[in-house]
Amino acid sequence: MDGNGRWAKKRFLPRAAGHKAGVDAVRKVSRAARELGLECLTLYAFSSENWKRPEQEISDLTGLMKHFIRSDIAELHANDVRLRVIGDYRAFDDEVVELIEGALEKTRDNRGHTLVIALNYGAQDELARAAAKAAEKGPITPAAIEAELDTAGLPPLDLLIRTSGEVRLSNFLLWQVAYAELYFTDMLWPDFDKEALSAALENFAARERRYGGL
Ligand code: FPP
Repeated sequence: MDGNGRWAKKRFLPRAAGHKAGVDAVRKVSRAARELGLECLTLYAFSSENWKRPEQEISDLTGLMKHFIRSDIAELHANDVRLRVIGDYRAFDDEVVELIEGALEKTRDNRGHTLVIALNYGAQDELARAAAKAAEKGPITPAAIEAELDTAGLPPLDLLIRTSGEVRLSNFLLWQVAYAELYFTDMLWPDFDKEALSAALENFAARERRYGGL
């Protein structure tokens, strides 16, 4: 969900306004994903490297997350959405942790759609943790690592979208991306909407996936 800062700058607004508009996009795109029949949508909301940002920005983002859970969990639950979090969310303050755990508990049996939020997530950290857990149990094989990833049990990653014109993965889902299709758009995250998601899906549908075969 890249480009909140640039979206705000273009409008002479503070970065926090960009993140607020980013949350509005989260709401819209999450609804659109369900309407378009997607089984699962994963959003990269806070990376393990984002702690390097100014304290005020971290506090703005944390405030938005709290507000989002408080205001949106009822709608998500009513729409049979299961919430999952990847990354070590326990690094956030107690209030965030409690809100997240309440939301996970409330929605755990929902099966209509899964909304995954990556919080304090970094793929290298996820892989190191998964390999260590796998090693405790037996030989380290791809299947053994996969079973210990934060994404264990989620459907395979089909399409990865990055907004704002950056063309890199920035430590996101590095294991899961092995056979995923990649889609890069110049659109800034707050501008990303149902139409933009549909365009990405149309592009995806036209690709030929061979998984290493002929
Ligand atoms: C990247 O844009 C965006 C982020 C680091 C934060 C994304 C978080 C949200 C949209 C809000 C919280 C999420 C939920 C699920 C409620 P940037 O600030 O790096 O933009 P820039 O590259 O243009 O500066």
